[in-house]
Amino acid sequence: MKKILVIGSLNMDMVIEMKRMPITGETVLGTQVSYVPGGKGANQAYTAAKLGGKVKMLGCIGNDDFGEMQRNNLTECGVDTGDLKRLKSQGTGMASIYVDEYGDNTIVVVPGANMECNVSYLKEYDHVLQECDYVILQMEIARDAIYYAIKRAKELGKTVILNPAPVPDALPDEIFSRLDYITPNETELMKLCGKEGDSVRDYTEGARELLERGAKNVLVTMGKKGALFVNREREEVFPARKVLAVDTTAAGDCFNGAFAVALAEGRALGEAVTFANAASSIAVTRNGAQTSIPSREEAEEALREMSVHVRTK
Ligand code: RIB
Repeated sequence: MKKILVIGSLNMDMVIEMKRMPITGETVLGTQVSYVPGGKGANQAYTAAKLGGKVKMLGCIGNDDFGEMQRNNLTECGVDTGDLKRLKSQGTGMASIYVDEYGDNTIVVVPGANMECNVSYLKEYDHVLQECDYVILQMEIARDAIYYAIKRAKELGKTVILNPAPVPDALPDEIFSRLDYITPNETELMKLCGKEGDSVRDYTEGARELLERGAKNVLVTMGKKGALFVNREREEVFPARKVLAVDTTAAGDCFNGAFAVALAEGRALGEAVTFANAASSIAVTRNGAQTSIPSREEAEEALREMSVHVRTK
């Protein structure tokens, strides 16, 4: 089994459920509040390990209970957390998440310790980068650290997956050209290519533009519409499994973690995307971030169901 390194954020999520989101200046009553381990980096590492991957994580936590809860949750699930950095000067990252009755969410992240996941920390752990095969990154840590890690990983011949979330205003071409896979959702894709539109055709054009800028493979998560894969040889939509969503938090993280595991196991591209669709279809039926991630057995079961569905169409 190839080794997966996740470099990214760890947050404690304060999840508030409500019937509908408040508008500016309005107070609404929520129905429930819970604290759940989250952070895009941690969620992806947790997913990859829970689905059977050999996973290590680099990132920063604060010297507080939330940081310890994060570390324990990841360790129990099999993530190697031995080189996470614990800071005295900063608190663990926090996310405030509002979830409405349709399962849609809005998220505000206060990065705290995550911004100390910087170039000097990554240089200190260069041997970790050397030892892995796949590197997955998101965009909730220091920006120069993300760019440094991508360049260093490619220098070392690793496969790099960037989940551009939260999406920046722009990504430099020298970064695009080092990405084996970029995995935006529809909104992130359209912002990155500076276009408007909400059809699969618009997304395909947007993805082609990212190829022009240097990305090798573009994989767009489109929620209920499934996932769109675009490279120079292939353009294909992989349908989603139909489920009733209660909370879409971390669905993208689950998709990315599952996709990385499938690639690391040597599955073909189409199978890897379908496996990721299967896993994330379960995550949206459960509340919270790491609390929503399925087991390997559950993901395989959903995958079998999807395969049967495709064959009988
Ligand atoms: O993608 C979901 C995650 O985004 C949450 O867990 C929250 O912490 C934010 O990072």
